[in-house]
Amino acid sequence: MKLPIFTERLILRKLTEDDVDNIFLLDSNPDVMKYVGIPPVKSKDESARMLENIINQYKINGTGRLAVIEKETDRFIGWSGIKLLADEVNGFKNVYELGYRFLPEFWGKGYATESALASLNLGFNQLNAEKIYAYADVGNASSNHILKKLGFENKGNFIDEGDICNWYELEKDNRK
Ligand SMILES: CC(C)(COP(=O)(O)OP(=O)(O)OC[C@H]1O[C@@H](n2cnc3c(N)ncnc32)[C@H](O)[C@@H]1OP(=O)(O)O)[C@@H](O)C(=O)NCCC(=O)NCCS
Repeated sequence: MKLPIFTERLILRKLTEDDVDNIFLLDSNPDVMKYVGIPPVKSKDESARMLENIINQYKINGTGRLAVIEKETDRFIGWSGIKLLADEVNGFKNVYELGYRFLPEFWGKGYATESALASLNLGFNQLNAEKIYAYADVGNASSNHILKKLGFENKGNFIDEGDICNWYELEKDNRK
């Protein structure tokens, strides 16, 4: 991955062990975790383990979620990026998946869309993906809206960890 990536308002860089407080703030927030299929974390140890896992993915898979920094304030606002699905989801394994997660005070500014476009560029142009996948809880209206806006095709429902989710696919040539 050629990093950092600079967009109009954001910087995408690798997550490091030093982001443990940032990730804990994000993943301990019930509003953030409402539709992501896992409960809010309760300890910084859990966040440290999660960071270790992501840093390992960079090494093994050559990709993973990236920290997103707001240029104007230099603040960590969340993460976005392309992950290799090493564990099977909806029958798919070892495919590239787009994801994003932000602190509520930064929602509604177009940051998920802006960072997703940068992540898709990385996936299609650096990782040479032919197709990128995504999924979202059916109740997560803004995420489903963003995915459709980006050109993702809704391939129907499946159950993930007990939650009904939409499964999406985007071919390189169908990007919006
Ligand atoms: C989902 C999430 C990433 C969206 O981030 P964001 O920065 O607010 O998203 P953006 O501002 O780029 O775009 C939001 C879009 O959803 C639209 N939207 C917001 N609420 C909506 C609703 N109830 N119904 C339909 N669309 C809605 C907005 O109008 C906007 O679309 P537009 O740009 O076409 O007007 C953010 O809410 C988040 O981090 N949630 C917690 C983690 C999460 O759920 N991650 C996704 C898991 S699939």
